[in-house]
Order: sequence, then structure tokens, then C-alpha cells
Amino acid sequence: LDKSHTQSTAQKILWLLKHRPGHLYQTARGLILFHWSRCSRNVVALNGVTLAENVRLQKNSSLMAESPSAKITVGENSIIYEDARIEAYGGGAISIGADSIIGDAHIVCRYSVQIGKRFLSSWNVFIQDYDSHPTEQSLRQRQVEGMIDSFQPRFVNTLRRIKLAPEEWSFPGEDIIIGDDVWLGAGVTVLKGAQIGAGSIVATGAVVLKGNYPANSLIAGNPAKVVKSLTSPAS
Ligand SMILES: CC(C)(COP(=O)(O)OP(=O)(O)OC[C@H]1O[C@@H](n2cnc3c(N)ncnc32)[C@H](O)[C@@H]1OP(=O)(O)O)[C@@H](O)C(=O)NCCC(=O)NCCS
Repeated sequence: LDKSHTQSTAQKILWLLKHRPGHLYQTARGLILFHWSRCSRNVVALNGVTLAENVRLQKNSSLMAESPSAKITVGENSIIYEDARIEAYGGGAISIGADSIIGDAHIVCRYSVQIGKRFLSSWNVFIQDYDSHPTEQSLRQRQVEGMIDSFQPRFVNTLRRIKLAPEEWSFPGEDIIIGDDVWLGAGVTVLKGAQIGAGSIVATGAVVLKGNYPANSLIAGNPAKVVKSLTSPAS
């Protein structure tokens, strides 16, 4: 019987501490980063995540840079809204320019995701610079078995399974570059190797694949194409 709604906050925290310590750690880390960056007039750096001056990190957002090499940097005055998830793994590096607004985007990186200044991402935006799973069925089968095994108790005999070695498959991907003043509409997906020029707008629902999309373009559709050129603002 789920009694979670009748539990006090202290009981909930104790339950989380016992059953979900990782979750509690991520939440506490997000809260510390949020309040630290609000109070601080300096750069805030914690476990591979660097927030420039006056970055606002709203509730339920998380920034996770895998130790020891992954990095995330967010430029000054940027706002990371509720429910955004920004994750860098391995040697991945995510950089977000100053004065950017990130909605509930999910950004996942193993190579490089470089985003310019005054970036605007709407809701449900997905950016990933690598493929998580092999397209070849037998390799995928072994990867999935390895993932399942890693959650099994130690006494389960997993010797029958041949684990997928990094030299057989290791997350193919390519850098993503998004220029200054780009707006990604709701539900946009940006995949490995996409280079979106400065001043461009990606229309809602577009799936942007590998390619070079020139500055000041309106990009739309699946697969996304440049549908018209936008005039650049007067300088
Ligand atoms: C891109 C957008 C701003 C429209 O810009 P616009 O300059 O007025 O463009 P138009 O409506 O004139 O459309 C230009 C062309 O792009 C196409 N287009 C526009 N949006 C499209 C979409 N989401 N998917 C596919 N094609 C689209 C139009 O059909 C049109 O094609 P055509 O020239 O062959 O007729 C709007 O479509 C959009 O996606 N807004 C984002 C909404 C959103 O995400 N809101 C959340 C708040 S951040």
C-alpha cells in the first residue's frame, strides 16, 4: 500500500536516503547549485559543472557531468527552466552561451554540444550528439544483456553472456554546433553532426539531422530542411 502521501517530509527524506540515495544526492546538488548561483557574484563550479555569474537554475533541473572528464559550462545570466536535464558523459563537453533560456530540454553529450549566446529552447527539446545503442541487432542484444546484468545481484551467473567491449562499439557521434541567437521551437530534436547557423529558427516538431544549416534560416520538417531564409537584424 502506498502511504507516501501520509508521510512527513522527514520520513520522505529518510525513505529516500535508504532507498534512493542517488536521487537525493542529485536533488540536493541541484538545490545547492541553484542557491549558490543566485547568491554568488562569482563563477560557481562543482564536479565538472561551471555556472557563470547570475545563472538561474529552476527546480527539478539537473546538470550532470560524469567524472572525471565530462564538462558543462553555462554562460552568465542564463536561465535553466524547470525540468531541464543536461548530461555530459565520458569526455563530453556542453557549453551554453550567455543570456540563454533553456526550457525543459534534454541535452545529452559524449562529444561536444556547443551552443551560442541568447539561445532560446522551448519545451520538450531533445539534443543528443551520439547514438546510445548499436543499430546492428547482435551488438544491441549484447549491450542490452550487459545493461540488464549490471543491475543483477552478484550471485546471478552471467558468465554465459559475452559483454560488448568498447572496441566493438563505443557510441558513434559527432559534435553539434548551434550559433548565437538560435530559437528551437517546441518538440524539436537535434541529432549528431547538426550545425545550425546563427540567427536561425527551428520550427516546432522538426528533426534536425547531420548537416550544415546556414545562418538566418527557417528550418522545419522531418528530416528538417531550410524552408526559407530569414532577414538578419540590423547591426
Ligand atoms: C517557425 C514559426 C515561428 C513560423 O514562422 P514564420 O516565419 O511565420 O513561417 P511561416 O508560417 O510563414 O512558414 C514558412 C514555411 O515553413 C513551414 N513551416 C512552418 N512551421 C512549420 C513546422 N512546424 N513544420 C513544418 N513546416 C513548417 C510553412 O508550412 C511554410 O512553408 P511554405 O513556405 O512551403 O508554405 C512557427 O511555425 C513555429 O514553429 N513556431 C514555434 C512555436 C513554438 O515552439 N512555441 C513554443 C514557445 S517557445
